[in-house]
Amino acid sequence: GLSTAAALARRPAITGGELSSEIPLPPAFKVPLPIPSVLEPTKPGRYEIHQREVTAEILPGVPTRLWTYGGTFPGPTIESRRGHPITVAHRNELPVPTVVHLHGGRTPASSDGYPTDLVFPEGWDDMAGMHEMEGMGGTSMSDPRAVTSELTREYTFPHDQRPTMLWYHDHRMDFTAPAIWRGLAGMHFIRDAEEDALGLPSGPRELPLMIADRAFAADGSLAYPALDPTLKERPGVTEKYVAGVLGDVILVNGAPWPIHEVDAARYRLRLLNASNARHYDLEAVRDDGHRLDLVQIGADQGLLQAPVKHRNLPLAPAERYDVIIDFADVPIGSRVRVRNRLGSGQTKEVLAFHVVRTATDTSRIPEVLSHDLPEWHRSDAVRVRDFSFRAGQMGDGHGWLIGGKPFAPSRTDVSTRLGDVEIWRLVADVHHPVHLHLVGFRILSRGGHDPLPHDAGLKDTVSLRPGESAEIITRFDGYRGRYLFHCHNAEHEDMGMMANLEVT
Ligand code: C2O
Ligand code: CU
Repeated sequence: GLSTAAALARRPAITGGELSSEIPLPPAFKVPLPIPSVLEPTKPGRYEIHQREVTAEILPGVPTRLWTYGGTFPGPTIESRRGHPITVAHRNELPVPTVVHLHGGRTPASSDGYPTDLVFPEGWDDMAGMHEMEGMGGTSMSDPRAVTSELTREYTFPHDQRPTMLWYHDHRMDFTAPAIWRGLAGMHFIRDAEEDALGLPSGPRELPLMIADRAFAADGSLAYPALDPTLKERPGVTEKYVAGVLGDVILVNGAPWPIHEVDAARYRLRLLNASNARHYDLEAVRDDGHRLDLVQIGADQGLLQAPVKHRNLPLAPAERYDVIIDFADVPIGSRVRVRNRLGSGQTKEVLAFHVVRTATDTSRIPEVLSHDLPEWHRSDAVRVRDFSFRAGQMGDGHGWLIGGKPFAPSRTDVSTRLGDVEIWRLVADVHHPVHLHLVGFRILSRGGHDPLPHDAGLKDTVSLRPGESAEIITRFDGYRGRYLFHCHNAEHEDMGMMANLEVT
């Protein structure tokens, strides 16, 4: 049945300020919500994406240069079925090398997008590229032999995993954060017959929602500290970069504070926080101030065993939630605003729903959503590991470290055997959303206590709040090879907070 979410014990503190746009911004709730197009296969099971630079209007009437998957931000959505492998061929027509990672995918290591498995643009000078990487001051390329390169890369996804919403994004070593900021992100669904049969809201009543903040320079380009030397010299900007880059414009599916017309019926919201560093704590508020319940039916790695009702829902970078919202009792003609309790001023607003018509609703929320949620017990674990996520020195600059070390491609940080169950104890200094590749995990405890209501289900990202510890448990199965775990504050990740995970 439904349980009521307890209020968060502590509201997460966000360090660092945000970049302010230097261009007039549109009023909230004027731009219609775009729904990214679904990518057509070129033949059954095969997709092609050209990564290219385009000019798009994110702010109405303002041209902005973007790096895109297939010409749009977000990139095209991939719809796939459990147990049906697909291949996605990426061609790089951008001015820099790239790497594609399917976040949350149970993917063989060769297709997982290791940060040095680069896809090069045509004519890219290998040596010049190496120098550029070293010059940027991130993790230095200590083992050039770790670099493999291709012009087009075929990524194969077996889809041997529970249905859920994944997302694909750039993962190039040291440059992930600016690449995602410039637009390299898209959504990817896995579905199956069992989920289809549940009777959840579907079709136009299922909405993929990629939430991401950005800031705009006076010329309409995206503002980002490391991309703009003049910006870098201004006071406070380095600190903002180190803490993680926040923008003052909230985009949903690439549109600023959009509005979407809905029926007075249930909707299924597939929420993704694709922001580099911004945390949200979402609530849905009617024009008359009444708050609507957010009924969570799924987490990062698929459906919960049973729905969990929330008044508000915290969303850390890279986390996804599958949520049902019911507009049935909302007066026709009024709005429901999705707001961010952690924002201030304009960053308090995210998007709005305009309830425009009555409708019949045959959807339902079953009391039991899933029968295959993995559960591991403490006694199953053959190993317990400890990892601290803390600020520290990297070279002669600021770094973010795991267990006191910045990322090095040539060092194996964790080596585990295929099939082993492990407990990891994680502890953070400031807010760090910790993500593991390859596996989903369960959250065993948070701050020495039971997990919070929104920690339910199978996760691939756990949001550690400042000073907090958490225990997670998982089985390392699926594939052997070299994977990663890292902080998903994208700037922290670029500044060293990543480590190698070897499954043998
Ligand atoms: Cu969203 Cu290592 O990834
Ligand atoms: Cu972090």
